[in-house]
Amino acid sequence: MYRAQLEAHPDAIELPAEQITAGLVRVAEQDGVVVGFAVLLAPSGGACELDGLFVEPEAMRGGVGRLLIEDAKSIARERGATRIDVVANPQALAFYEAVGFKPAGEARTRFGPAPRMTLAVGR
Ligand SMILES: CC(C)(COP(=O)(O)OP(=O)(O)OC[C@H]1O[C@@H](n2cnc3c(N)ncnc32)[C@H](O)[C@@H]1OP(=O)(O)O)[C@@H](O)C(=O)NCCC(=O)NCCS
Repeated sequence: MYRAQLEAHPDAIELPAEQITAGLVRVAEQDGVVVGFAVLLAPSGGACELDGLFVEPEAMRGGVGRLLIEDAKSIARERGATRIDVVANPQALAFYEAVGFKPAGEARTRFGPAPRMTLAVGR
């Protein structure tokens, strides 16, 4: 959906190496092969922001995204957050709804408005 914009502005999805060294990145592996990853920022105001979630195209619809969200929920809880917030790619809305996220307004991104969603993680 954002291919043209992202090709023109690759910095928009650049992943800072510091997120890895800070322990904010989780990788999903299947038979020793990386099939996806999630970036969950440190809690702020009770929420951990899900800053990135990608599954390799050939592994999509195999439950990897759901597992990464379940994992992110435990991490958010351990870190004292009560919810996970995300600015959703509109094409990923059905996924976020399927794994329990609820609509939470709209965010402004450099590429236009995008839905904000939130997931309670309990305590
Ligand atoms: C969004 C994304 C992370 C989902 O990961 P995934 O591993 O394919 O998701 P799962 O297999 O765990 O899907 C869980 C459920 O979500 C729903 N779902 C997932 N993808 C869907 C789609 N394209 N259309 C409709 N429902 C979808 C389904 O209910 C699915 O369960 P089912 O397969 O049993 O029907 C993956 O498609 C992706 O990396 N997309 C490109 C990057 C992106 O948009 N990331 C989000 C940034 S905000």
